[in-house]
Amino acid sequence: MTKLPDEVKNKLWSAAEAASNQAYAPYSGFHVGAALLTTEGEIVSGCNVENSSYGLTNCAERTAVFRAIAEGKLSKGVGISAIAVVNRDHQSCSPCGACRQVLAEFGPDAIVLFEYDGKRQETPISALLPSSFLL
Ligand code: THU
Repeated sequence: MTKLPDEVKNKLWSAAEAASNQAYAPYSGFHVGAALLTTEGEIVSGCNVENSSYGLTNCAERTAVFRAIAEGKLSKGVGISAIAVVNRDHQSCSPCGACRQVLAEFGPDAIVLFEYDGKRQETPISALLPSSFLL
């Protein structure tokens, strides 16, 4: 696993926190921000977007991934080195199962930074989702 410099981690935490302030979460009140770092060194952030038809909600992590794809910053050849995920109010927030599968698509070595039980955690996606589905 590649070691991420503290300076880079801090940038990701800050970008994720900033994104959490943009969350559209009128139903749950749970505001989430995510910021991913591509293997090319770009940072792309996202927030959760809820909907009155609850099941259509999009998590912050997937918003960041889809945005990065749409902006041409993530692709088959350019993966995710790391992603930070935070709840605006510092409640525990590890990536949900669906987001783990989406993150695993972009590299087994991606380091996931998230807050849990009031502590900052750092875990590779391969540990959060062992044997992820791949084609
Ligand atoms: N949420 C995320 O954005 N990321 C996660 O990994 C967990 C959950 C959002 C979805 C929903 O808008 C709110 O948090 C409460 O579930």
